[in-house]
Amino acid sequence: MAKINPHFNEVAQGYFSTEIAKRARPFLDSHPGVEIFKLGIGNTTEPIVPSVIAGIREGVEKLSRRETYTGYGDEQGDTRLRHTISKWYAGRGLNIDSSEVFVSDGAKSDCANILSIFSDDSIVAISDPVYPVYRDSSVISGKRIHYMPAIEKDGFIPQIPREKVDLIFLCSPNNPTGSVATHKQLEEFVRYAKKNRAIIIFDAAYSEYIRDTTLPRSIYEIEGAKGCAIEIQSLSKAAGFTGVRLGWTIVPKELQAEDGSAETLNQFWNRRQTTMFNGASNIVQEGGLAVLSPEGQRQTHEQVDYYMENTRIIRDGLKASGFTISGGVNAPYIWLQCPKGLSSWEFFDELLEKAHVITTPGIVFGENGEGYMRISAFGHRENIEKAVRSIQANFGNKS
Ligand SMILES: Cc1ncc(COP(=O)(O)O)c(C=O)c1O
Repeated sequence: MAKINPHFNEVAQGYFSTEIAKRARPFLDSHPGVEIFKLGIGNTTEPIVPSVIAGIREGVEKLSRRETYTGYGDEQGDTRLRHTISKWYAGRGLNIDSSEVFVSDGAKSDCANILSIFSDDSIVAISDPVYPVYRDSSVISGKRIHYMPAIEKDGFIPQIPREKVDLIFLCSPNNPTGSVATHKQLEEFVRYAKKNRAIIIFDAAYSEYIRDTTLPRSIYEIEGAKGCAIEIQSLSKAAGFTGVRLGWTIVPKELQAEDGSAETLNQFWNRRQTTMFNGASNIVQEGGLAVLSPEGQRQTHEQVDYYMENTRIIRDGLKASGFTISGGVNAPYIWLQCPKGLSSWEFFDELLEKAHVITTPGIVFGENGEGYMRISAFGHRENIEKAVRSIQANFGNKS
């Protein structure tokens, strides 16, 4: 008889976006025609930049001619793209060999799938609050969780575990808190990982939002990190590829598990990808090459600037209304402390009912998210401005 994976019963029934839609539904139904401003979702809204569209078109064109048509490609990614990614890191002073680069269809699946190369009895450290994918995929794969509180007094940077864990998910710039770890903070995690023979899984999906040049955009900026860290990247927020789908994972050759020899993890991930993944779309990989070209980098960075200007508008607006906020300086997310000691869901209702603004209650990211809201800067400028005006009209403007 087929048996279910019982661990599915240990996670919430729906992903948090479903929960938010459900909670907002009664208000929307009873207020038809009311304009709603969405500051809740981490989804891109602006069109892909011209040089990248040209790359994607080129990918399509190639498929239309017998001489340039390609079918299945290498599961690890197009060799040109793997080399280009390696050069992109080299441009940042980091030495990543193309054989350590595995192109994927995005960071979310890699964050979950990477767990398969580690033992089932691994203890996985995740921050609280956390991007739920690390938590839920660890639970579903039967691993044990150790929570690292990420609280105000530490600038919302997770506390290093006191006991021994095996895997540590880190996300910087952080979703949901918008905090960014400094070199020193990441050095401490690397030191911990080395001492405890743990492995860091570093999610750098928002690295391109870092404007402060003193902050690390890659875990490999930390000395010794190649021996203890995997890095996962995504073009979703860096180039508007949320619907296009492209990312990559770096599994260094020198990365070593407690019981494995050097290169084992690189080989295991290669084995996993060649067995369970058939490579990212060839059309999309042409787009990825275009993103990493000098013109693609210039244009996509300009687009990131657009979202960062949204962030500034929201930050200034919220501050003027007297809210206590953090994040949103080198990240597209702002972490707002709910006023008057309200719970996240209570303040979610108040913001929706009074200002018609939808945000994400911090509690969906973990217990330490209670009393906070995540505000996302992804949106058309005019909607962001309207949302901020609506908040100020209903919660005051002291500027
Ligand atoms: C921290 C973090 N990692 C990964 C992802 C997913 O990235 P992708 O679209 O490449 O799957 C997101 C998306 O919101 C995210 O916030």
